[in-house]
Amino acid sequence: MAAQPVSVRSIVGGQVVEPDPDDRVLKSANPSHLDQVVAEVTLASAETFARACRAATDAQRKWADVPAPIRGRAIATIGRLVEANADRLARIVTEEIGKPYAEALGEVREIIDTCDFFLGEGRRLYGQTVPSEVPDKNLFTFRNPVGTVAVITAGNFPVAVPSWYIVPALLTGNSVVWKPAEYSAKAAQAFYEIFVRGGGLPDGVLNIVHADGAATFAGLEMALAEGTLDKSGFTGSSVVGAKIGELTGRYVQSACLELGGKNPMVVCPDADLDLAVEGALFAGFGTGGQRCTSLGTVIVHESVHDDFLRRFDAATRAAVVGDPTKDVLYGPMLAPKFADTYEKYLGWIAPHHKVYGSTGTGRISASNPREGFVGDPEAGLFYHPVIVDGVRPDDEIFMNETFGPIVGVTTYRDLDEAIRLGNKPGYGLSSSIYTNDPKSVFTFRRGISAGMVSVNNSTSGAEAHLPFGGNGKSGNGSRQSGMWVLDQFTRWQAMNWDYSGKLQKAQMDIVEMTPDMDFRL
Ligand code: UN1
Repeated sequence: MAAQPVSVRSIVGGQVVEPDPDDRVLKSANPSHLDQVVAEVTLASAETFARACRAATDAQRKWADVPAPIRGRAIATIGRLVEANADRLARIVTEEIGKPYAEALGEVREIIDTCDFFLGEGRRLYGQTVPSEVPDKNLFTFRNPVGTVAVITAGNFPVAVPSWYIVPALLTGNSVVWKPAEYSAKAAQAFYEIFVRGGGLPDGVLNIVHADGAATFAGLEMALAEGTLDKSGFTGSSVVGAKIGELTGRYVQSACLELGGKNPMVVCPDADLDLAVEGALFAGFGTGGQRCTSLGTVIVHESVHDDFLRRFDAATRAAVVGDPTKDVLYGPMLAPKFADTYEKYLGWIAPHHKVYGSTGTGRISASNPREGFVGDPEAGLFYHPVIVDGVRPDDEIFMNETFGPIVGVTTYRDLDEAIRLGNKPGYGLSSSIYTNDPKSVFTFRRGISAGMVSVNNSTSGAEAHLPFGGNGKSGNGSRQSGMWVLDQFTRWQAMNWDYSGKLQKAQMDIVEMTPDMDFRL
């Protein structure tokens, strides 16, 4: 028996937003069982988004006055509560977006890791004391919160990625307005409850607004114009990211953008091919290829292409697809809109390509079955894994992110060519190389445009305390996670204090030594 759908509403300043008769209610379904409605989400207006930014601004000053170590304690408590609720939260993620349970549990782990990292930062939010160039004067630096932060996240990581923004933003004394994906609203609500009800955050410090893209964008614009929004973080497509970058740029703000990827994996002639296949399988088809770090194209040396492809095809055919509550490599597409766009990407397969990996392509059904499928394929949005061999650098499939279970394969002759191919699509999030040759590793590291490089490891699965982010179409250079994200949510303030009792002019009133530049031994 499926559970009753939960009713999900925005919460602003600690108050549930009462629905307006004109508000649209979106039904979010379980993508493995489309007939099961998981949540009924009341979508808020742009005005509600702007109101949330006002409420957050009102709450921010007081929150910033809470000593950082005490804010760190709040993060510590939240981390323990996420741990205590890990199974329940992971089950909601599996139910709502179809992520296999083991992976969903890993996603929840990523929130805990993030809290564990930042709980100590409350006692370590270091500034510096710096020597002055004049006597009787001290120099200092302080980290100040930026103010009110809007966080707009995708639903493929409905709880981990939001925590990458929200945890450090709160820890450093900002208030937050969070707009989660509409199709992962139940998971978002559970996350919010743990943080605010469990964690005891004061009203208005963390607000949640469920809204569609258009209302969110209009709400951002209103808040920016009113001066109640100081920073925006966005995880999602490169197209929308560019729009948010443009909008915030008009207000002299730089958004923290975590966008798409076309992540290459280079397989060198000396690679352990079985290891490379294992990495390609997880990176290409784990989460149904719906990670921003998912593998885009395998760039394999021509001398090992046939051998690699044979093994990759065999491993992909043997992989178990289906019911995400079971032990499967991947489950359904996240939501119907992803199935629709993925169908379009499948249309990019051209006559010069050769397709491998399954007993069919497209949606898995009784008439288009997948060998070894677990569960009822027709109940949900399940797709065959597809390996497309023979992709060429000008193919759409080579140049664009194809969010879904599809991996391209192409060949290279020398490493420079592999690096050129890896960089050609113009993204730059993650990348991987399989080799044991240090020269190849460091040549690749230096040449590849990606923000993240894996050696003998998959393109996905970054750890929560290294800088996460990309370049080019993958992002504007902002980095999340670890100490690096602190620069997103704080501003350095430089202070000087002259206690000499007189005006000492920098660069002018300084003691000169008398050097002898002609001195030689
Ligand atoms: C994303 O898809 O937006 O590195 C994030 C990874 C995960 C996070 C992916 N830790 O694959």
